[in-house]
Amino acid sequence: MQYQRSSALFNEAQEYIPGGVNSPVRAFKAVGGTPIFVKEAKGAYLTDEDGNKLIDYIASWGPLILGHAYEPVIEAVIEKAKKGTSFGMPTEIETELAKLAVSMVPNIDKIRFVNSGTEACMSAIRLARGYTSKDKIIKFAGCYHGHSDSFLIQAGSGAVTFGSPNSPGVTQGTAKDTLLASYNNLESVQALVDANKNEIAAIIIEPIAGNMGCIIPEEAFIKGLKELCTKEGILLIFDEVMTGFRLARGGAQEVLGINADIVTFGKVIGGGLPVGAFAARKEIMAKLAPEGPVYQAGTLSGNPLAMSAGLAMLTALNNNPEIFRSLADKTAYLHKGLSKVLTDAGIIHQINRFGSMISVHFTDEPVVDFESSAKGNNETFKKYFHGMLSNGVYLPPSAFESYFLNDALSYEDIDATIKALENFVTDLK
Ligand SMILES: Cc1ncc(COP(=O)(O)O)c(C=O)c1O
Repeated sequence: MQYQRSSALFNEAQEYIPGGVNSPVRAFKAVGGTPIFVKEAKGAYLTDEDGNKLIDYIASWGPLILGHAYEPVIEAVIEKAKKGTSFGMPTEIETELAKLAVSMVPNIDKIRFVNSGTEACMSAIRLARGYTSKDKIIKFAGCYHGHSDSFLIQAGSGAVTFGSPNSPGVTQGTAKDTLLASYNNLESVQALVDANKNEIAAIIIEPIAGNMGCIIPEEAFIKGLKELCTKEGILLIFDEVMTGFRLARGGAQEVLGINADIVTFGKVIGGGLPVGAFAARKEIMAKLAPEGPVYQAGTLSGNPLAMSAGLAMLTALNNNPEIFRSLADKTAYLHKGLSKVLTDAGIIHQINRFGSMISVHFTDEPVVDFESSAKGNNETFKKYFHGMLSNGVYLPPSAFESYFLNDALSYEDIDATIKALENFVTDLK
């Protein structure tokens, strides 16, 4: 494949945009080479600026669960845009989307829309602190909750890839209120709770993690976490920015059978436009301004174009919940196919999968937390990534990211993906 135009565009972008990108993982730092500049996309395929057609496994990092340029979303946005793009005043469609989201997700009464997953998580911990009158939070190493200061204390995803878990610019004052536990390790949480008695407002977790590869919570761990929170008066925050409206109508709360106290959303809820949200039961949301004293606001929050995209997306999912099963089946098929090719070639690997999230790790140990995920062989990953790319398959350009399957992918596309791996698998040795 040729990447001349992507390469030229990247060179030019670097003149005007730090690192040539507006979000670090796009820069290919972890895998080397030139980031692909997208020209357009439809369904399961991306077309890049050099005219290469790629099968896409990132779906804009999750939002496009029904594929690129999904007609009902596109039409809804075009129709809305004709009537004005932003008012900074209430509109009916905000309530429509809120009503639908609340009807789909267990254990939430009210929802507040923001513009990104980062904003949702940042606001959720402020609300938790305001509600409990406590300052500290616990997060898990390798879980990513956006780039607000309180979470850049050993984040996964881009920050891990760049080996700078504590970003300059985050103050010691902020860092001291964030405690770090290990995923799937309840004792590590208990130890922090014991050492900070009555000081912890919330524990925030990716209920199925996607920012250190896809990591599945052990049942005893996630249930134990819920029990611990209830016993200690700590709010449990499920960061469902990735999992919300992707794993089931009710997200991870539904599939795990666990009620969180606050839930955050992003990605799918905006149908590909910038939307985040956080939600909880009435008594918690009542603390939020203007009803209560915890301040939170946004000029473009509840933006009509973003709301119309989200409404079209959630309506489609609500009307066709079998999509979640069919996506999980496709993901299982991909898992089986990739695993067979790698095993037959004698390549040491682990594949983690939950619903339509999946990741391949080049390590012989089970990947259950950040530490085990970081043991993956990045040299092999780089060859795997570039091998797939040159065979027409676009994977996340970092071993710490989950793939997101979308409904437009056909079994033929998945067969082509498995075939792509066959073409170069011996190079991975
Ligand atoms: C679990 C999770 N939470 C929060 C975020 C931040 O969302 P955003 O990038 O929309 O700010 C992400 C982003 O990937 C995420 O994966």
